[in-house]
Amino acid sequence: MRLITILILSSVFTCSCILWYASFLHEHDTVVRSTKKPNIVFILADDLGWGDVGYLNPHVITPTIDKLARLGVILNQSYVLQSCSPSRAAIMTGYYPYRLGLQGGMSRNAPTGVPLNLMLLPRKLKQLGYSTYMVGKWHLGFCKKEYTPNGRGFDQFYGFYGAAADHYTHVAKSGIDLHDDMKPDRTQNGNYSTYLFSGKAVEFIATHDKSKPFFLYLAFQNVHSPFQVPEKYTDMYPSVANNNRRIKLGMITAMDDGIAKVVNALRRHGLWDNTLIVFSSDNGAPQGEGSQGSNWPLRGTKGSLFEGGTRAVGFIHGSMLEKTGYVNNQLIHAVDWYPTLSAVAGAKTLDSEMDGLNVWNTLRKNDPSPRKEFVYNILERIPTAGIRVRNYKLIVGNPHFPACRVPPPERNINFEVECTTLIHNGVYLYDLKDDPTESFNLAEKMPQRVKEMNTRIEEYKKKLVPTLDPGISVAQLADPQNFGGVWAPGWC
Ligand SMILES: *[C@@H]1O[C@H](CO)[C@@H](O)[C@H](O)[C@H]1NC(C)=O
Ligand SMILES: *[C@@H]1O[C@H](CO)[C@@H](O)[C@H](O)[C@H]1NC(C)=O
Repeated sequence: MRLITILILSSVFTCSCILWYASFLHEHDTVVRSTKKPNIVFILADDLGWGDVGYLNPHVITPTIDKLARLGVILNQSYVLQSCSPSRAAIMTGYYPYRLGLQGGMSRNAPTGVPLNLMLLPRKLKQLGYSTYMVGKWHLGFCKKEYTPNGRGFDQFYGFYGAAADHYTHVAKSGIDLHDDMKPDRTQNGNYSTYLFSGKAVEFIATHDKSKPFFLYLAFQNVHSPFQVPEKYTDMYPSVANNNRRIKLGMITAMDDGIAKVVNALRRHGLWDNTLIVFSSDNGAPQGEGSQGSNWPLRGTKGSLFEGGTRAVGFIHGSMLEKTGYVNNQLIHAVDWYPTLSAVAGAKTLDSEMDGLNVWNTLRKNDPSPRKEFVYNILERIPTAGIRVRNYKLIVGNPHFPACRVPPPERNINFEVECTTLIHNGVYLYDLKDDPTESFNLAEKMPQRVKEMNTRIEEYKKKLVPTLDPGISVAQLADPQNFGGVWAPGWC
């Protein structure tokens, strides 16, 4: 109790965050660090950009995210892949997706998934005594049961297998993509995805057997297209004239409300004090007309290896963190979550082939990160590769996605959209310490560094597995018409 009092007193004098404490730390809360294994709630947002949360853009209404981030640890150098499946594969395996054939993403029709010889994070945590729940978007393969969340270690799953379903009908292209464990759910037409998924997360929390710790992977459908949200959320942005941007902002706020419901449920069921929250985006936002996400001030869009596509909004929160209320500038990558969370859950050994590093001390007390370099990605179909070594970043090849800096409309920033000229077989070298917006290509000035970093890429490339998704040649196998109008396993 004394610690809380000190926190509250100091906050009265230093900031206006007294209300946060009032709502989060009720009278009976203790800040005593538990020796029990912590519960882990991993919240993944879909297509949320760097400029799409309140603590980085004051026009965005995300009170719960802002509170959790500011009272926790804001991750300022946390990286993901350029798109959905690759990032999810990295989080679930601890491997770079270019080693799994998942570097380029995966279509709904791909008769494949994350290679079955790998043990995914939920199964690992299950072995360590955890109950494992998943809600929301999978996008890591479903052509047979073994590839689905239920086949990969989740005790309970409620969500969808692919991407880009309608937020209300849960129909994607020509079939329903909504499942309660292995059964299709046809009863939720009209229930907005964020209401549905936060509601299910609350149900899992409510029925959880408290004698065990749990892992909840809550992969929201928001804020991915199609751009849909209940009107009450767009109404919260009356001054944003751009319609698409207003909807996108509404979707962000709806997700924030969903997170608030989950936090409240954890509190209500006495689980809050021993729960570690991880929040991350899966990739940067798609930018431009028709999508209207914002990665400002970073350069580039979802799909590109520039920072706007790969530097993730993220934070962690929980009583087990020794240092909180600051911005952590240590380098971490999506592949690090597997070994880190496994260690938190008590794992003693891990697969030595894994790319991820245990960064728990970096997160918990801001120790220097063991990570000094990482692979942004290596793609072979349209050859492009990106690597980071300390503060330097090299992109080589054909980074065909737009690499522009676009201020979001609501901020009225006087800035002409500015794009990097992308050339065939281009070489782009940046010093991100001095130039986080990738505005000055140093490749010609520093040929020696380019050469050294290229050599590293060539070394990493030796482990490349060609992209598994064969393209559209087998598209008809997955057709929902063959499965009663549902996207279902059973075709590989
Ligand atoms: C939407 O689904 C959630 C989770 O099952 C449920 O709690 C909520 O009542 C549903 N809303 C409607 C309008 O059916
Ligand atoms: C976050 O990173 C940026 C570099 O992109 C840096 O300029 C900024 O100071 C960092 N924020 C904090 C609070 O350390």
